[in-house]
Amino acid sequence: MINNYFTNAVNIAKDICKRKLDNGDTAVDATMGNGNDTLFLSELVGYSGRVYAFDIQQTALKNTYEKISKNGSLEYVKLINDSHENMDMYINDKVKLVVFNLGYLPKGDHSITTTADTTLLGLKKALDLIEANGVVILVVYCGHEEGSREKNVLEDYIKNLSQITYNVVKLCFANQVNSPPMLIIIEKR
Ligand SMILES: C[S@@+](CC[C@H](N)C(=O)[O-])C[C@H]1O[C@@H](n2cnc3c(N)ncnc32)[C@H](O)[C@@H]1O
Repeated sequence: MINNYFTNAVNIAKDICKRKLDNGDTAVDATMGNGNDTLFLSELVGYSGRVYAFDIQQTALKNTYEKISKNGSLEYVKLINDSHENMDMYINDKVKLVVFNLGYLPKGDHSITTTADTTLLGLKKALDLIEANGVVILVVYCGHEEGSREKNVLEDYIKNLSQITYNVVKLCFANQVNSPPMLIIIEKR
């Protein structure tokens, strides 16, 4: 039996990554930040896989480079200093999983945050890139102004996705205080 599975959005997102990714798969970290998710994905896909990680902040690339160079995964992890809305310009392979951990860096510049418009463009690109049974996971922080806008735009978009093509799930922590992050999971059928 699994105790306390539904603790928070990030832990559930990680569990989905573990279930979906095998050695040799291609995964995308659409918001690299300090590289925690990039590192985690790189461990799951292994040396025969590939990870593409995006961020608009140079500091994110620097921090992530330092983190992943320690575990020797730089050969198959590509760090890209560009917005996730351009991910199709860098990726030719079919992708198993894309993760968007939205918002701003907790200890960074809070004015540099993901935005509703570019996140939506990035999500559309991600949905084009994923293979059958592939998944896009979004961790949405709605407790700040742009995050709340992002949540509304994403919710409007996902409810109109074809159910023939996608399984779409929304998961929120209904009894938690302080606007905890919610999860959106879109699986290609
Ligand atoms: C919550 S943090 C991500 C945390 C990160 N995954 C980690 O493991 O540390 C959000 C990141 O998204 C980045 N970001 C904002 N807009 C972006 C965009 N259009 N494309 C890619 N990254 C973006 C920010 O610079 C910030 O580093």
